[in-house]
Amino acid sequence: MSKPKLRIGMVGYGFMGRTHSNAFKSVGQFFDLPRTPELAVICARDEGRANAFAERWGYGSVETDWRRLIERDDVDLIDIASPNDTHKEIAIAAAEAGKMVMCEKPLGRNSSESRAMVEAVEKAGVANMVWYNYRRVPAVTLAKQLIDEGKLGRIFHYRAKFLQDWTISADLPQGGEGLWRLDKAVAGSGVTGDLLAHCIDTAMWLNGGIDSVTGMTETFIKERPHTLTGKVEKVGIDDACAFLARFENGSLATFEATRYARGHKALYTLEINGENASIFWDLHDLHRLEYFDHSDEGRVRGWRSVHITDGDHPYMDKWWVPGLQIGYEHSFIHQAADFIAGLNGEAAAPTFRDALATDMVTDAVLKSAETRQWEPAH
Ligand SMILES: NC(=O)c1ccc[n+]([C@@H]2O[C@H](COP(=O)([O-])OP(=O)(O)OC[C@H]3O[C@@H](n4cnc5c(N)ncnc54)[C@H](O)[C@@H]3O)[C@@H](O)[C@H]2O)c1
Repeated sequence: MSKPKLRIGMVGYGFMGRTHSNAFKSVGQFFDLPRTPELAVICARDEGRANAFAERWGYGSVETDWRRLIERDDVDLIDIASPNDTHKEIAIAAAEAGKMVMCEKPLGRNSSESRAMVEAVEKAGVANMVWYNYRRVPAVTLAKQLIDEGKLGRIFHYRAKFLQDWTISADLPQGGEGLWRLDKAVAGSGVTGDLLAHCIDTAMWLNGGIDSVTGMTETFIKERPHTLTGKVEKVGIDDACAFLARFENGSLATFEATRYARGHKALYTLEINGENASIFWDLHDLHRLEYFDHSDEGRVRGWRSVHITDGDHPYMDKWWVPGLQIGYEHSFIHQAADFIAGLNGEAAAPTFRDALATDMVTDAVLKSAETRQWEPAH
């Protein structure tokens, strides 16, 4: 008997529209799932480009207005892969129409938007998830397993950074296609909501809730021409942010993100130091987990670099043979797999409610950068 379909309505055909389309297109080939995803409708405002995308990826049809997409009764899941200022309105309308909703991060431009979205999906009782994909890089999932098994013992330190260098030029405009991340009205914030939100989601998943934070932000280039208005306008986003955090388990943390770290393109690293062991992970080498176990015999004790390609590593039994690694796009395939599997059992995380917790931390960080005080993070 054929499995029921899961008909996807995708909003946006940009960077994330491609990763999500790839995930839903491939996931059924590698995972046994209760439903078969179908690329039903792609929605974007430019009809010509949307048609070209539909043809390339095999979408059944095209809509140019997300409201029309939500009205359709041949779509089960609305997947929001458009800029941050669109998330709230689309997600709430989709939930009210009884659709499942997946949404890109950050959930809202701030926690009050996110809270309204949580209320909508919970009131409607629809399946929901936010694409914090780094949880599903197998090395990061393995880190979670090791921590949950108590291998690290008491955790003392969490250290995360996410460094880029693409906005250093003062000539770069803000706003519009490809540059909406520099426009506060669209993005909500700069590196705090864009990059640190990832670090915070992974951190709270691995190490529990964050109690309080104190941070600093800087906007190095104060004015930029706006692509849409043609005028030179004040830059409202944070170009760089660093903050200290206290976790509820008593551990101390440092977080840093910037788009001004010349030479770094997407250097997301995290390190956790426990009583018995430490873990280090680097997105540039995402198939490795660096692990130090103090219980090793002293003469051979040292950091080991575990190549995460064996069948007993998370997700890896679905892929190739030991020694052959997978990449960035697979984290989205794993997330799609877990979401679909969760439809017939325990819902997969992070849900909208989990992502709200992250937005509360980013709000607190931005607030503390203004007040110069420690701020509660929940
Ligand atoms: N999970 C991750 O690692 C990750 C990485 C990058 C971006 N993101 C998030 O994904 C979202 C999209 O980012 P991106 O990099 O793909 O952006 P992008 O600029 O590459 O693509 C955005 C797409 O949204 C479309 N769009 C904009 N407004 C629309 C509207 N009103 N209706 C329909 N379509 C509309 C655009 O045409 C474009 O296709 C953002 O929320 C971003 O923060 C997440």
